[in-house]
Amino acid sequence: MRRYAGTPAWKVSVTMDTVTVKIRPCAEEFTAEEDAALRRAGSIIQSGGLVAFPTETVYGLGGDALNRESSRKIYAAKGRPADNPLIVHICRLEDMERIAAHVPEEAFGIAEAFWPGPLTMILPKAELVPPETTGGLDTVAVRFPLDKTARKLIEYGGGYIAAPSANRSGRPSPTLAKYVAQDMDGRIDMIIDGGPVGIGLESTILDLTVTPPRILRPGYVTREMLQGILQKVDMDVTTLTADSGQAPRAPGMKYRHYAPKGELTIVEGSFEAVIGYINRQTAAERERGERTGIICTSESGPRYSADVVKCVGSRRDEAGIARKLFSVLREFDDECVTKIYAESLEAAGLGQAIMNRLLKAAGHRVVQV
Ligand code: TXA
Ligand code: MG
Repeated sequence: MRRYAGTPAWKVSVTMDTVTVKIRPCAEEFTAEEDAALRRAGSIIQSGGLVAFPTETVYGLGGDALNRESSRKIYAAKGRPADNPLIVHICRLEDMERIAAHVPEEAFGIAEAFWPGPLTMILPKAELVPPETTGGLDTVAVRFPLDKTARKLIEYGGGYIAAPSANRSGRPSPTLAKYVAQDMDGRIDMIIDGGPVGIGLESTILDLTVTPPRILRPGYVTREMLQGILQKVDMDVTTLTADSGQAPRAPGMKYRHYAPKGELTIVEGSFEAVIGYINRQTAAERERGERTGIICTSESGPRYSADVVKCVGSRRDEAGIARKLFSVLREFDDECVTKIYAESLEAAGLGQAIMNRLLKAAGHRVVQV
């Protein structure tokens, strides 16, 4: 048995050999070797095993969505509470109608506009899907990813792969296979290393079981983009505030998430005030023996001094910031940083998803200056 610090005994699984296979990220066709590796991965899934794989958003931890034992294994490998449902990944549009009891008209319009791609739809669940996969809910989350390796694995794995992000519960979602290995080595059968992911934040979750449809988790597909297809789209109030007094509608959004080991604080205010405040704070904390870190943008980077200063890119390039955010959060752990300050970003468009993840990573600790 392998013990992880701070892990209750019931969440510890037996150590197994985790095999890693590499698939070139952007190649047009799979080589015979790659295809054989993906077939092997598919047969692991079909026989009840777990395989981590790349998607365009983050790496997923896959098991057969129709096999209740596979879903139980996913929860155990992640150390995830069993009331937090999994997303079912498909590779053919028609499969949406097999796992959903009823597909509303809007879902077809959304699928046409955004699938395959970084969008998950919540629909009423069909009998076929066991309650273990949906955390006991009578709805099911469905996603048709764009990533070609993911789609081939889903096909070889039998068509329905339940996959949460491939991190241990509470950690940032993995954007590289090495981060999957850090969290999952010895706990799953295989890791498919498909290189760095393209987007870096998890899919947008859209609940189509309510009227009007509601975004439960912001992502690359923004509210503005959805409004181009649907007449009205609501946003779950809990996505950007901690004190709405309501429980999030996506069960997973209520858990502490993405958190680095150091204490993270977000600083909001004018450009100059934020820089001044963060520099004063980190100087004072270094005096007290803390190891300090700053998450900044290229516009302000040269103005900071701390033990570790990490730039997530330009404020004008939100997609670049999204791609880097989770790896930066993990790097602070590797560098043993104890106090971290992050500049706040504009919460519009993709910035909404970035701020949603940053706020959760900070446990909603925000300072106004
Ligand atoms: O981009 C993604 O969505 C990645 C990749 C691997 O596809 N997956 C992912 O899964 O982020 P996970 O399990 O880390 O996050 C899924 C979220 C959780 O917050 C969960 O509570 C919510 O989706 N969810 C799943 N099924 C749901 C349902 N039936 N109703 C409401 N929320 C649901
Ligand atoms: Mg996750």
